[in-house]
Amino acid sequence: MFESPFGHSIMKRAKEKELVNIGIHDIRNYSTSKHRSVDDYPFGGGAGMVMQIEPIDHCITQLKTEREYDEIIYLSPDGELFDQKLANHLSTKKNILFLCGHYKGVDERVREHLVTREVSIGDYVLTGGELATAVIVDAIVRLIPGAIGDEQSALSDSFQDDLISPPVYTRPADYKGWKVPEVLLSGHQAKIEEWRHEQSVLRTKQRRPDLLKDK
Ligand code: 6GU
Repeated sequence: MFESPFGHSIMKRAKEKELVNIGIHDIRNYSTSKHRSVDDYPFGGGAGMVMQIEPIDHCITQLKTEREYDEIIYLSPDGELFDQKLANHLSTKKNILFLCGHYKGVDERVREHLVTREVSIGDYVLTGGELATAVIVDAIVRLIPGAIGDEQSALSDSFQDDLISPPVYTRPADYKGWKVPEVLLSGHQAKIEEWRHEQSVLRTKQRRPDLLKDK
């Protein structure tokens, strides 16, 4: 599940340039049972299996002997909502461990004692934490200086200043009579920047008024 999202484009180049190192660890390798199981029935009954604390603790304990972690993040739909602010914060950290749960979740004692933070990527339920982790790692890695070509461009992203990005156009200037706004062809840089800012504010009001609420 991680090979493809981390194997292309900006992620791939960031790994090749050693801006980031991504290790993947299978909790089954830390199972103490002969069938490598890592889950069991919930105490008190009910549907679904629960991931056991023991293999998770063994895995985390082993990894901690190899490096110190700034954060150990459990991915869960009931966690704190991931946003650009958290991406910025996490991109300043050296080592982050992401714990991907499955089934009905992990034994609550993992959450109480082994993790530093619980994060969700939105109000919907995924089958596991892996895709959420891929989303978060992508958002973090592209903020590392040198990861994207034009260093300015991570800072001018939508959300970086709680505004939606303005519309962009490229050639041809007229396609089937659908024209590019005149101002962008004017060569007048100050006017262009002013127009872009106006568009950002307008779009944010129209599409994401919630972003302007606490302003
Ligand atoms: Cl982090 N995990 C799962 N399983 N579902 C989610 C999620 C995480 N964030 C949103 N939905």
